[in-house]
Amino acid sequence: MMDAMFSAPVGDDVFAEDPTINELQEYTADLFGMEAALYCSSGTQTNQIAINVHVQPGGEVITHKESHVYKYEGGGIARNSGASVRLLDGNRGRISVEQIAPWMNNPDDVHYPLTQLISLEDTSNRGGGAIYDFNEIKKIRAFCLERGLPLHLDGARLMNAMVENGVDMKEYASQFDSISLCLSKGLGAPVGSLLIGKKDFIKKAHRVRKVFGGGMRQAGIIAAGGLFALKNNVERLREDHAHARALESAFNEMDWVDNVMGVDTNIVVVVLKNHDLRDSIISKFNDAGMTPMPFGPGMIRFVTHLDISKSDIDQTIECIRSLNV
Ligand SMILES: Cc1ncc(COP(=O)(O)O)c(C=O)c1O
Repeated sequence: MMDAMFSAPVGDDVFAEDPTINELQEYTADLFGMEAALYCSSGTQTNQIAINVHVQPGGEVITHKESHVYKYEGGGIARNSGASVRLLDGNRGRISVEQIAPWMNNPDDVHYPLTQLISLEDTSNRGGGAIYDFNEIKKIRAFCLERGLPLHLDGARLMNAMVENGVDMKEYASQFDSISLCLSKGLGAPVGSLLIGKKDFIKKAHRVRKVFGGGMRQAGIIAAGGLFALKNNVERLREDHAHARALESAFNEMDWVDNVMGVDTNIVVVVLKNHDLRDSIISKFNDAGMTPMPFGPGMIRFVTHLDISKSDIDQTIECIRSLNV
C-alpha cells in the first residue's frame, strides 16, 4: 500500500484532474454497478453530504436511534442540513419496513415535517457489527419507491457485510440512491471514504463537498491507499471476522461476562455482569497494550482489523483468561 501511495500520479482534484482519485472513483462505481463516486475525507463527510443533497431544511430523516448519522456526527443533520430526525428502535441497529411505515408523515398535513430520507447502516456499529437481512433491505426499497423517498446507506463497514451476506454487490447497491463506503476502517487505508450514486446525485454532492470544505487538491497520494485496499484487502476481512469470533468464544467462557453480542463481522461487544467494573477492565487491557472502547453502561467494544494478527488475538485471549476481575 505504501509503495502504491508513494508512486501515485496526482493532480488537482478540485478540478477533477487527479488521475488516481479519478481511477478510485471509477473503480468503486464499477464495483457496485453505480454510475459515479466521489472521494471524500471521511465517512462523516460522505454521510453528511448525502443527507444535505437528499433533504431540504425542515425535512425529516428516518433512521435508527443508535445510527452513526444521528448519534456520532456532532448533530450534523440539524447543523448542516437544518433537518429533523425520526429515531426508531430496532434490533441491533437495524430497522424494518413495519417500523418505518407508521412514521411517514402525511405531506398534506402542515403540522409535520416532510419525510424526505430513510438512512440505514450496514454493518451496524452500535449493533456490534450486525449485518442487515437483504430481504429486509429489498422491502424497505420497495416501500421507498412507492413513496418516492430516497434511501441512503451508511456503509462505513459495507465490505464486512458483503463478504458474509452472499449477496451480489451490484444487486445490493441497486437498492440504494446513495452509499457511503469507508476505506479507513477494516480495509486498512489511511484515510478517505467514497460516496456512490447516480451521476446527477454525485454532481450535486461534488458541489456540497466544496461547500463543506472537503475539496482536496493533490490527494491522489492518499486515494492510492484506498484503491489498493479495495483491490487487495476485501477478501481478507474474513480473517478479521474469524478473529472476532475467537474473541467472542473466549469472552463467553468468563464468569465476569454477562453476554457478548453475537458476532457477525469484526466487532465484539462485551456486556459485563458488574457494570461498575467497565473502566477498570478497560485499563487492564490498556496495560497489556490493547485499546478497547467503552461502549455504554457495562459495555466494552473490541474491533479486529488489518493490523491485528493471529498472534495479537492469541495474546488478547491470554489476557482475557488471566484478567483478575
Ligand atoms: C457506522 C459508521 N459510519 C460512519 C462513520 C464515520 O467515519 P469517519 O470516522 O471516517 O468520519 C463511522 C466511524 O466510526 C461509523 O462507524
